[in-house]
Amino acid sequence: MNLAMADPATDLFGAPPALVVRAPGRVNLIGEHTDYNDGFVLPVAISVETRVAARPRGDRRIRVIASDFGSAVAEWELDAPYAANPSAPWADYIRGMTCAMIARGHQLIGADLAVSGTVPKGAGLSSSASLMVGIGRALAELAELAIAPAEIALMAQAGECDHVGMRCGIMDQLASACGVKDHALMIDCRSLAVRPVALPEGVAILIVHSGVERGLVEGAYNERRAQCEAAAAAVGVSALRDADMAMLEGAGLDPLTLARARHVVTENARVLAAAEALEAGDLVAMGALMAASHSSMRDDFEITVPRIDALVAELRALIGPEGGARMTGGGFGGAVVALCRADRADAVLAGLTYRKPDGGAPLVLRETACDGANLVMR
Ligand code: GLA
Repeated sequence: MNLAMADPATDLFGAPPALVVRAPGRVNLIGEHTDYNDGFVLPVAISVETRVAARPRGDRRIRVIASDFGSAVAEWELDAPYAANPSAPWADYIRGMTCAMIARGHQLIGADLAVSGTVPKGAGLSSSASLMVGIGRALAELAELAIAPAEIALMAQAGECDHVGMRCGIMDQLASACGVKDHALMIDCRSLAVRPVALPEGVAILIVHSGVERGLVEGAYNERRAQCEAAAAAVGVSALRDADMAMLEGAGLDPLTLARARHVVTENARVLAAAEALEAGDLVAMGALMAASHSSMRDDFEITVPRIDALVAELRALIGPEGGARMTGGGFGGAVVALCRADRADAVLAGLTYRKPDGGAPLVLRETACDGANLVMR
């Protein structure tokens, strides 16, 4: 990972860029695997981000240089149908985005692009969504198209689902596109309404990357989604958002499907309660909800791994009752998010003994809630 940002004055294929856009990663405080069930999520856009420098071309080609991938270059015709690039899989996200934008009728123009980022990859912090939202915003600005943030988010989701092959929900893209400084976002993933929820004064957001690489998780992710859809169909609702525990228990679900659905139904309720707890500045209640969310991901949805369970337990013990910790993101590895009193954060991090599978110290981010994607230079 290249932690250096694309310098706005960066030489972009021999000339300076016309504009530079940033798009943040996100950390989800609570509400995991609820988005594609039309449910609720509570993410925060964070300071790690993707930067996209862009310059128009005289033809209809897209050419991209990726500083995080050894300055590899990929290029293609804007109007050609989508094709995966096995020698540059990172470019599939970008091409998925351009194809999704064209499919929605947006009149893009050819561009030279340079991308670089600080979002750790494979950590569950949405490096791919921030890349796609950044590309979307940059191409919209370049062609002077007024595209609303939520529309950029929907196209980024479509590009990932239709082309990259991960049947993701809308949380990551909406968080990156619509983030609000100093706020979490309470998102209704059915209506796509985004309600900023002020983070309490004096709360610290800590992120610890377990170092357990998530690898190719699309298969397991898509399987969970299919199980949720099967549960909704068996209960007779269009999405698990509309189910409650009594409906699940009366539907004769097999034990595995019941457990998957129970996670979603209980997690939706926890998100609503968490937004209230944050608004009330109640870190004790928030910590209890985070603990229950982690247990549900571990026992019912089965997306945690033992190392992450141990990391969460250690953080929770260090933090005490005022705050909490849970795995964040799609699961099977990646990062843990913790909330604690800001005046306790240094002591919590100093006390952390967790080591990555390779024996090294984990990557730790002390984060702040940031605004969504925007233009930083033209
Ligand atoms: C990934 C997906 C999101 C969401 C989370 C789990 O980040 O991209 O849409 O489903 O997993 O909450």
